[in-house]
Amino acid sequence: MPARTVVITGASDGVGTAAARALTRAGDQVVVVGRSPDKTAAVAAELGAEHLVADFSRLDDVRALAAALLAAHPRIDVLANNAGAIFANERSTTPDGFESTFQVNYLAPFLLTELLHDRLVDSGATVINTSSVAGARFGRLDLADLQSERAYSPTRAYGASKLAQILHAKELDRRYGAQGLAAASFHPGGIASNFSTTDGSPWRFMYRSRLKNLILASTDKGADTLVWLAQTPPHQGWEPGGYYTRRKPGRTVPAADDATLAAGLWARSVELLVLG
Ligand SMILES: NC(=O)c1ccc[n+]([C@@H]2O[C@H](COP(=O)([O-])OP(=O)(O)OC[C@H]3O[C@@H](n4cnc5c(N)ncnc54)[C@H](OP(=O)(O)O)[C@@H]3O)[C@@H](O)[C@H]2O)c1
Repeated sequence: MPARTVVITGASDGVGTAAARALTRAGDQVVVVGRSPDKTAAVAAELGAEHLVADFSRLDDVRALAAALLAAHPRIDVLANNAGAIFANERSTTPDGFESTFQVNYLAPFLLTELLHDRLVDSGATVINTSSVAGARFGRLDLADLQSERAYSPTRAYGASKLAQILHAKELDRRYGAQGLAAASFHPGGIASNFSTTDGSPWRFMYRSRLKNLILASTDKGADTLVWLAQTPPHQGWEPGGYYTRRKPGRTVPAADDATLAAGLWARSVELLVLG
């Protein structure tokens, strides 16, 4: 059987690199997608994999990434929307004019998934969104303030973007499940990676701590649920639209199950991206 094609964003570091390693070992053809050209090339060289570079704070990069994937891959069996970050105390916007957390963590992966839609459906693909307990248990999403213009804090914006990823997976299931596309979201756990290590990042003291390997789990552990979702057919251990943590359904705020909110977020995303 030909190897499956697995696209992983945020594969140049942390959870994404660990997942890319595990899936390559299992025989998948992984496309390593990262932001840093050097880091992305190094991971790809280690794995003997193809790599592509895109900065999700630039939607044109996402469009070019989708075009490159469509040109090179007649099948895409798994898309892992894993790239993500938490930003600093000062609200910032991308060159596209959107609040940075909202764009990098949610709107860019939404756009990528939409641009790949036909290929994903034709391949009967699984889409996996890396969310967070910060979205699942504490996230609040205000459709009237998706850009955090009225109220911004890095943790609030992060939680909203990660709740949006859960809603995105559920709405993908509602819209395209009958066409054969399966989607899920998951929380990797508190993971000792480069997440939240930049200056101004609100949780940097924990993630930069010399004790972080004691407080936080390994990137291999963080990748475990992603790898499990990528390797297990839907309905054989996990249900499309679901949110998982440690391979089990995770608890969420009621908003995560609000189908009206999910549909509203979808409609607003299409509007913001001026998609037809
Ligand atoms: N670590 C945790 O405790 C934790 C907990 C819950 C959820 N998460 C989520 O898990 C996912 C992976 O995080 P991690 O822990 O592996 O962190 P990490 O080590 O910092 O890796 C983040 C990955 O995302 C990429 N990335 C960041 N900003 C990007 C941008 N603007 N455009 C494109 N790619 C970008 C990075 O690319 P470069 O390295 O090439 O810049 C890197 O490959 C994220 O979505 C994060 O929110 C992490």
